[in-house]
Amino acid sequence: MNSYCDKWNLNPLKLPRHVGIVMDGNGRWATKRMLPRISGHHKGVERVQEITELCGNLGIEALTLFAFSDENWRRPEDEVGGIMGLLRWYIRKEHKRIVEKNVQFRVIGDRAKLSPDIIGLIENLEKNTEKNTGLHLCVALSYGAQREILRAVHKVINKVQNSELNIDEIDEKIFEDSLDTQGLPPLDMFIRTSGELRVSNFLLWQLAYAELFFDNILWPDFDSLKMVELLQMYSLRERRFGRTSEQLAEKTLNMALR
Ligand code: IPE
Ligand code: IPE
Ligand code: MG
Repeated sequence: MNSYCDKWNLNPLKLPRHVGIVMDGNGRWATKRMLPRISGHHKGVERVQEITELCGNLGIEALTLFAFSDENWRRPEDEVGGIMGLLRWYIRKEHKRIVEKNVQFRVIGDRAKLSPDIIGLIENLEKNTEKNTGLHLCVALSYGAQREILRAVHKVINKVQNSELNIDEIDEKIFEDSLDTQGLPPLDMFIRTSGELRVSNFLLWQLAYAELFFDNILWPDFDSLKMVELLQMYSLRERRFGRTSEQLAEKTLNMALR
């Protein structure tokens, strides 16, 4: 039994294995308070710490957080610089705690666009957590799903050209193993804050059978209580994977039906 699940009144068997979050609304949160946008991003980072800790305690296997998109490079230079500064600060400050909390840290996306010192901080943390066995914390940075899919296509083509793979062998599993999220459990739950009803190029392949949650709350206000509320709603959804409700009634665990 997990005491955190008890505390929050959650059934551990009904929790998602992998949650993906589009953490949106930092700018609006700050503007509403007449603060610079960067203070919204700053508050947002505090929520990352809180929600990561909660997910780890609840025994959720993977949490993928959309922190900066391929398209976010189009923002004003000072905002991009401010976000990168926060990223440096976050990794430096959290490094020890992430290692000690048994978290497996990974960054997905086109990291070549990031500055060399940030790449160094990321690689160092990935290396120091690779033997950990707890929550997979996956941060999508300079990430766009269409590019991720294209990178995967290139990898698969390379394997075919090098005769490591036969064209007939290409299936969903082979393709998934070429995505940045390789090795993570299937995405069960998608959350987007701030009321926007779009996925903005996040985990397009992985979203195939995820349960979708859109909430008006702005990311800097997204606390443990809100996360638990959404997890409770998730646990009430019937995931059919193409089958009928009657078929599901014959099984005890939805999870086994994938
Ligand atoms: C999300 O908040 C964080 C990033 C995209 C980096 P926004 O900065 O998009 O906040 P809004 O949408 O302008 O309120
Ligand atoms: C999506 O938010 C990216 C992140 C949360 C990092 P945006 O605020 O950039 O999305 P759009 O542009 O409004 O769709
Ligand atoms: Mg936004």
